[in-house]
Amino acid sequence: MKDEITRDERVANLKGMGCSRKRVEDARFTQGKGNYVDDIKLPGMLHGDFVRSPYAHARVKSINIDAAMALPGVVAVLTAKDLEPLNLHWMPTLAGDKQMVLADGKVLFQGQEVAFVVANDRYIAADAVELVEVDYEELEVIVDPFKSLQSDVVLREDLVAEDGSIPNGAHGPRKHPNHIFTWEAGEEEATNQVIDNAEVVATEEMYYHRTHPCPLETCGSVASMDKVNGKLTLWGTFQAPHVVRTVASLLSGIEEHNIRVVSPDIGGGFGNKVGVYPGYVCSIVASIVTGVPVKWVEDRMENLMSTAFARDYWMKGKISATKEGKITGLHCHVTADHGAFDACADPTKFPAGFMNICTGSYDIPVAYLGVDGVYTNKAPGGVSYRCSFRVTEAVYFIERMIEVLAIELNMDPAELRSINFIKKEQFPYTAALGWEYDSGDYQTAWDKALLAVDYKGLRAEQAERVEAFKRGETRKVMGIGLSFFTEIVGAGPVKNCDILGMGMFDSCEIRIHPTGSAVARLGTISQGQGHATTFAQILATEIGLSAESITIEEGDTDTAPYGLGTYGSRSTPVAGAAAAMAGRKIRAKAQMIAAYLLEVHDNDVEFDVDRFVVKGSPEQFKTMKEIAYAAYNQAIPGLEPGLEAVSYYDPPNMTYPFGAYVCVMDIDVDTGVPEIRRFYALDDCGTRINPMVIEGQIHGGLTEALAVALGQEIAYDDMGNVKTATLMDFFLPTAWEVPNYETDFTVTPSPHHPIGAKGVGESPHVGGVPCFSNAVQDAFRPFGNRHTNMPHDHWRIWQTANNLGMHD
Ligand code: CDP
Repeated sequence: MKDEITRDERVANLKGMGCSRKRVEDARFTQGKGNYVDDIKLPGMLHGDFVRSPYAHARVKSINIDAAMALPGVVAVLTAKDLEPLNLHWMPTLAGDKQMVLADGKVLFQGQEVAFVVANDRYIAADAVELVEVDYEELEVIVDPFKSLQSDVVLREDLVAEDGSIPNGAHGPRKHPNHIFTWEAGEEEATNQVIDNAEVVATEEMYYHRTHPCPLETCGSVASMDKVNGKLTLWGTFQAPHVVRTVASLLSGIEEHNIRVVSPDIGGGFGNKVGVYPGYVCSIVASIVTGVPVKWVEDRMENLMSTAFARDYWMKGKISATKEGKITGLHCHVTADHGAFDACADPTKFPAGFMNICTGSYDIPVAYLGVDGVYTNKAPGGVSYRCSFRVTEAVYFIERMIEVLAIELNMDPAELRSINFIKKEQFPYTAALGWEYDSGDYQTAWDKALLAVDYKGLRAEQAERVEAFKRGETRKVMGIGLSFFTEIVGAGPVKNCDILGMGMFDSCEIRIHPTGSAVARLGTISQGQGHATTFAQILATEIGLSAESITIEEGDTDTAPYGLGTYGSRSTPVAGAAAAMAGRKIRAKAQMIAAYLLEVHDNDVEFDVDRFVVKGSPEQFKTMKEIAYAAYNQAIPGLEPGLEAVSYYDPPNMTYPFGAYVCVMDIDVDTGVPEIRRFYALDDCGTRINPMVIEGQIHGGLTEALAVALGQEIAYDDMGNVKTATLMDFFLPTAWEVPNYETDFTVTPSPHHPIGAKGVGESPHVGGVPCFSNAVQDAFRPFGNRHTNMPHDHWRIWQTANNLGMHD
């Protein structure tokens, strides 16, 4: 049989991997057809709202709900006393701690949930919140983790034994009632020895401030308990719906098959929607109590004040080198402010996430990391805001240490990086703090980046600008921000990584219909990353059916196979691999069907784009569409009918995407306003599935990096008041602040991933934050600056200039 179209046309029709296919989900999103939690409206549905604590630390002496209950339309007001008989007044956190669902005796941060009002509509619920009378007795507030470790004030009285002793926490011994854990990696003694005897040592302290993922859609849930069939349905803003189902079952005692958890469209997550929040629990309890569906959706202030924060790491570093700039050792200590409850969303064995990637992209022979987690009167959380677990902190740390070492050595920071890169031939590379990097070619990426921006030319221009400034001819200084990062994404493997005991694999189930179209379901959930577009592309290439005829479904636990969800750029490394593996199972069966239809041996046919052909005889073939039909309408000896496959993929290792970024910035020293003249971002995420989606991910991640580096902050005053709880104060960049980004790439496939792909969604954030920050710091380096803390808002930049005497 002769084909009417060429092979190239067949490849193009497939819209498989490597194609910049337009995002299929956007037609819905751009035309108002998205279906978010707040769009869910059920008959008889009630609405919940929280009474929240105005105090950061106080004893709750009494709660009077009478006036609230008397308001027409109010159905119930829940307090910890109502939840206690159900054992739901506290809940487990992802970090092995427990957290109050509703205030039990005291409150520990401003905005903490105290009572849950349920009413006929949202407005009545909000009015009734004002009528709940809570009698508080204020207690001393601690917002500084260092003071917390010295203080006599015990924040978590529940974690001190009656005899005053301090029981171990989930991660071992605790050295103070406000201490959570000490976590260590590497060799401290050997590292200290190297540093003590080194030719050059640079030390620095830096604070990676508290910030917040602030997705446009806040968190919310709708719980509907059907008392007739005993089934609970829960719609919510969940980045890991299956884990929520398991937790809901364990907490409520409802058998897991009787719980259906649905993540509908999610308006951005960035880590904020990984944890379990009191609102979810209260909506479930309220629905069980009232027998009707109950919706809870938080507002912006509630989201910023009470849901999972990110960062808040106080980092202290020492780095040693030879006079020629070869790094010999690295020491890092972190004081980690976890707020009132340890609710960090990290794999169980890693209470400080993957902070031990802090040796970065460099071949450092010996290193040590110690992290102390501390309780304070701040909101709980500690999520990976657009990064894999604590990787942004790690990369910020090492990229600042490199800059400080360059100052110490009086060396160009680009050259210092080149001297110390892990070399291409060293991969797979085992770092001093334990990780095995899968693949990389850092020098090639670095050279490409420096050439693209004419780095030498930029440095010459900067030197001229410094002279012009000193002569009084300009009030603008110029900074060149550099960063080279290595990410670590794609948790599992199961043997290392779990969330609440659930191993971190992921899954894909494919069902091919007789007419050659398909539905594939995965254990992940897109929050804007375009999974419906890109996972179909992986499958198109693997099974030879056009991406246009493959529907991707995620987020409904009644239909999707069990998976651990989407965060930490794990979707492509893990679920993407599961998709490829399931696709290969389909192909293996299709090969047998094709061989039967073509009347040859299985080994005599081979896959070619969208068909199986007889080897050496390309005009003899069966297309995947024909094979799909045959799978359902022919009795094939030795084969079951149908064409379906499922894969649960446990990755052998994580993937290590990397990148080289350069930012050129002009700063007005009198106003403190930075102008980003140029931002160049080279990313290597291995095999690229959809270049256009990747570019979108990079633009988004860089914009969030800009936000964090240049202004975004959750700031507290000494009383524990949140000073940045609205978008008037919390910086969310708009098109006005965002520069043009130049994107570029190299391709170094992952050797262990079935299609060689690494994650990408978080790389631009991880690499972007130090790049923006380094640009600010570099502008002031010729005037004596060594390090200033983020966020570099206009006021702080002005202060830096002022401290350096540039306003004299
Ligand atoms: O887990 P999450 O979806 O947030 O992150 P990811 O795995 O990095 O994927 C983000 C988006 O970029 C998805 O649509 C991926 O399919 C796409 N991507 C790609 O096209 N090629 C890659 N090598 C990695 C991701």
